Amino acid sequence: WRDPRGFAVKFYTTEGNYDLVGNNTPIFFIRDAIKFPDFIHSQKRMPGSGLRDHDMQWDFWSLNPATAHQVTWLMGDRGLPRTLRHMDGFGSHTYQWINAEGERFWVKYHFKTEQGNEFFTQAQADEMAGKDADFHRRDLREAIERGDYPAWTLYVQIMPYEDAKTYRINPFDLTKVWPHSDYPLVKVGRMVLDRNPQNFFAEIEQAAFSPSNFVPGIAASPDKMLLGRIFSYPDAHRYRIGTNFAQLPVNAPHAAPVNNYSHDGSMRYNFNDPSVPTYAPNSLGGPHADAARAGEGNWESDGSLVRTAYTLRAEDDDFSQARTLYEVTMDDAQRERLVSNIAGHVGAVRSDEIRERAFTYWENVHPELGSRVREAVAAAAAPSSCGAAA
Ligand code: HEM
Repeated sequence: WRDPRGFAVKFYTTEGNYDLVGNNTPIFFIRDAIKFPDFIHSQKRMPGSGLRDHDMQWDFWSLNPATAHQVTWLMGDRGLPRTLRHMDGFGSHTYQWINAEGERFWVKYHFKTEQGNEFFTQAQADEMAGKDADFHRRDLREAIERGDYPAWTLYVQIMPYEDAKTYRINPFDLTKVWPHSDYPLVKVGRMVLDRNPQNFFAEIEQAAFSPSNFVPGIAASPDKMLLGRIFSYPDAHRYRIGTNFAQLPVNAPHAAPVNNYSHDGSMRYNFNDPSVPTYAPNSLGGPHADAARAGEGNWESDGSLVRTAYTLRAEDDDFSQARTLYEVTMDDAQRERLVSNIAGHVGAVRSDEIRERAFTYWENVHPELGSRVREAVAAAAAPSSCGAAA
C-alpha cells in the first residue's frame, strides 16, 4: 500500500521544542489547507461499504490536478521504501530562518538517508503486507536494538528573502520543489537514531508533534498549508491526549521553561508564577510574544509575499464606531449612566498606571467621555464630607 510515510522529528533545544513534522516526500497533494479533510476522506474508506476504494482516490486526484507531482512521486519507487531506514525525510514546507543580525531567509529541510534509498517492488510490498503488517516498525526497532543505528544527514536549501518575490516558482507552494540547481543543498547536521522507546504508549502514542512548535530564529512562511497545520495539530493534541498534553515528559521542553497562559484545565500539575495573571499582554512583567523574534512584522506586511491578510480601510480604526455610539446613538441619560458605570469600574483599579491608561482609552473613544470619566473617578475618590467628619 503506497502512502507517504510521516517523518516527525522533535528537537529539544535550550529555547524550547522545535518540531519538524514532515514526510518521505518533499511535496504534498494539495496547496490549500481547506482541502485537507477531503483529501484524507478520499484515501480512507467508503462510508457505505467500510472498504478502501480506488475510485475515491482517483476521483479526488483527477479532480485536483495539484496532486500530480506528489502522486507521480508516490507511484514511483519512492512510494514503497524498503524500510523506514531506507528513505529520505523532508520538512516539505518552506520555513523561515532569522539570523542573529535579523536577516531573514527561506529554508527547506532534507534528511538524506545514510543507508541509501531502497525500495520494494509492488509484488514484494503486497507480499510483505500480508506476511508481517508490523514489518516497518519491527525493522526499525531491531536495527536499533542490534546497534545498527540508522542515520540521516541534514541538508537545507536556503533562499534569500528577496528572491521569493520574483522566483519563477511560488516558493510557498507545497506542491513544488526548489530545483537544487537554483538552491543547492547545504549540509548542516546529522540525525542518528540510537535509542528505542522504553514505553511505547508514554513516549510514542502520547507524543505530540506540531508544525507550530518553533524556537527563536525559526518561523513560518506564507505557505497556507503550513498556516493551516499550525492550528490543526495542537487542536488534535488537546482532543487526542488532553488539555495539558504539553506537560507530559515526551512533549515538554527539557531545558526551557514553558511560558504561555493556556495551562489551566484537566490534569494540570505544574504551575507558573501564581502572581502573574493568565493573559497577554499584561503589565506585570509576565511573558509575552516577542514579535521581533518571531514571524510577525515581516512578510505579513510585505505586499509582495502574498498571504493576503486584509489591509485596514479608512474607517477600520478601533475607536470611531464606539465614538458614534457615544456621540450619536446615546441620549443624555444613557451617556450619564455610561460615565457612571465606567467610573465605578475604573475607579476600582489599584494600579495608577493602568488607571491612567484606561482614561486615555476613553479619551480616544471621545475626548468629552474621557474627561467626564476622569472627573467622576476623581470625585468618587475625594474624601466625602461624612468621612472628613469622622
Ligand atoms: C493542511 C494540511 C494538513 C493538516 C490539516 C494536517 C493535520 C494533521 C493532524 C491533525 C495530525 C494528527 C496530530 C496528532 O494528533 O498528533 C497529523 C499528523 C501528521 N501529519 Fe499532518 N496535516 C496536514 C498536512 C501534512 C503534511 C503536508 C505533512 C508532511 C509534510 C504532514 C505530516 C504529518 C505527520 C508526519 C503526522 C504524524 C505526526 C506524529 O507522528 O505524531 N501532514 N496531521
